[in-house]
Amino acid sequence: MKWKVFVTRKIPQRALDWLGKKCELEVYSGAEPISKKEIMAGVRGKDGLLCLLTDPIDEEVMDAEPKLRAIANYAVGYDNIDLKAATKRGIVVSNTPEVLTDTTAELAWALLFSVARRIAEGDKLCRAGKYKGWAPMLMLGTDLKGKTLGVVGAGRIGTALTLKSRGFEMKILYTDKTKNEALEKELGAKKVGLDELLKDSDFVSLHVPLTGETTHLIGLRELRLMKPGSILVNTSRGPIIDEKVLAIALRERWIRGAGIDVYENEPAIEPELLKLDNVVLLPHLGSATEETRTRMGLIAAKDLVATLEGKKPANCLNPEVFEKQRNEDGGYAE
Ligand code: DGY
Repeated sequence: MKWKVFVTRKIPQRALDWLGKKCELEVYSGAEPISKKEIMAGVRGKDGLLCLLTDPIDEEVMDAEPKLRAIANYAVGYDNIDLKAATKRGIVVSNTPEVLTDTTAELAWALLFSVARRIAEGDKLCRAGKYKGWAPMLMLGTDLKGKTLGVVGAGRIGTALTLKSRGFEMKILYTDKTKNEALEKELGAKKVGLDELLKDSDFVSLHVPLTGETTHLIGLRELRLMKPGSILVNTSRGPIIDEKVLAIALRERWIRGAGIDVYENEPAIEPELLKLDNVVLLPHLGSATEETRTRMGLIAAKDLVATLEGKKPANCLNPEVFEKQRNEDGGYAE
């Protein structure tokens, strides 16, 4: 029997081909994010759902199809899914960690460089025909070597970003719930509180998941604490920064600049940010490489099929579902 699966947008073909051999697929063909109403219509009659970080997957969506058993999120962040509601309904949820760690860390570095060396600004100037020749004071940026890098959240991506700083001989500060042995041993990194990190860092990169606790983690007070010459980079989730206050901080030069890949109300961007030259804005490209997006698709597809076959998927976010089933069945295949 072939399982029925709804995919909320076209993902790399290799992943769709793999999934198509195991399941009967319906793929939403729109070029823009699917609406919740359309997701609800799509999951009707399906066993599994492969969705994106732009898809709100709440109780209503889950209840649109009582036999829905598996949700695979094509992303590492899963703040778009009501995980508790899924667990309550016995729906297994998976994500795509690790595969995008280096890709996202590389993008954070790209943003950091872009702001520090004014790359986007320089490109704009050249295209506008305004480059009038080398000049001693033209677009002076700031060096990285020997400066202090502050990493907020030293999980997988934060750690990868930090390890890539090796060539720049930077002093490393980080915040995290637990001590990061690798960073402390390899780079002499120091675990500090957020305030100390903000006060002492030249570059601050955010790598925490979006939760109630991290929403507006960087607001007025925190931006005021940062050094006037510092740069803030966000490749995690938009609501972690109070975007309106960030625009003021950048306009009034409380900090030197910012590199932003994610927004509070994606795809909307705070209009005041669009007016500023000292911010580089990207359209959520953290994991956007050909290699990584294909691997993400294959991981999501394989985890979805594993769940439908009654196995625990490699990247299961709610293993409690299996515990519950084991208790009810007196045993469950893993
Ligand atoms: C994720 O997977 O959560 C990233 O934000 C994708 O770019």
